[in-house]
Amino acid sequence: MRSIALVNQKGGVGKTTTVANLGACLAQLGKKVLVVDLDPQANLTIHLGIKSNELEYSIYDLLLWKTKAEEVIIPAGVEGLNIIPANIDLSRAEIELVNMPSRETVLKDRLFLTFKKYDYSLIDCAPSLGLLTLNALTSVREIFIPIQTQFFALQGINRLSETIEIVRKKVNPLLKVTGVIPVMYDVRTNLSQEVLNRIKGYFKKEVFKTIIRENVRIAESPSFGLPITLYSPNSYGAEDYMKLAKEVISRE
Ligand SMILES: Nc1ncnc2c1ncn2[C@@H]1O[C@H](COP(=O)(O)OP(=O)(O)OP(=O)(O)O)[C@@H](O)[C@H]1O
Ligand SMILES: [Mg+2]
Repeated sequence: MRSIALVNQKGGVGKTTTVANLGACLAQLGKKVLVVDLDPQANLTIHLGIKSNELEYSIYDLLLWKTKAEEVIIPAGVEGLNIIPANIDLSRAEIELVNMPSRETVLKDRLFLTFKKYDYSLIDCAPSLGLLTLNALTSVREIFIPIQTQFFALQGINRLSETIEIVRKKVNPLLKVTGVIPVMYDVRTNLSQEVLNRIKGYFKKEVFKTIIRENVRIAESPSFGLPITLYSPNSYGAEDYMKLAKEVISRE
């Protein structure tokens, strides 16, 4: 059982894309996978072809103790892949949770038994270090950080490292950054290579050998509600995410 939060408070760096596609690839490789949408934008839910406005239950109901995990988990279009979906209700959760006892650990309290039933649980976080992300950091053992191989990539990373350190010291001593994923790599530019070198200088061995290249098929796939391996199985994007999944498994 591995529980992993995909975190980076910078927006648009490939968190959701990576949870959807890595999750699908792990499932296609025979793993039992749960992905959790912890972002009120519900991008992960939509990416995996689920209509977020037609949900009976969502992660919001789970967090506010309105229902059980078994009621919220639904299939996500790939054999072996399940999702806890989100919708716009989640934007209220941060406010409503404030008055709850143990508000930083409610996700953990609600899901730790569920995580045990899966080989991989991947949580897609919103681009913030607010209460929802804090809940993600409290409920997992591992963190993967997707980083764009572009100019501002490392800006804000110190802040993220500090937050992780605080959570580790105060509530979750086992928490660790176990993977940094270079994404949206542009093979035509020197800048991508330079930034990749800087990322490796900062994170050292945590950086995955697999690099996710920029690929228009990846950007297209959410509008078809499919992961890249189903939308365009022969694309670079599918190749890269499958390679990443194998590397993730090899680090078990
Ligand atoms: N390798 C890639 N090649 C091309 N486009 C990509 C790639 N990875 C992600 N994208 C596109 O970049 C945009 C941002 O990606 P994504 O939504 O995964 O980021 P995010 O970190 O989840 O954003 P947010 O912080 O808003 O939740 C999306 O339009 C996505 O389709
Ligand atoms: Mg996202």
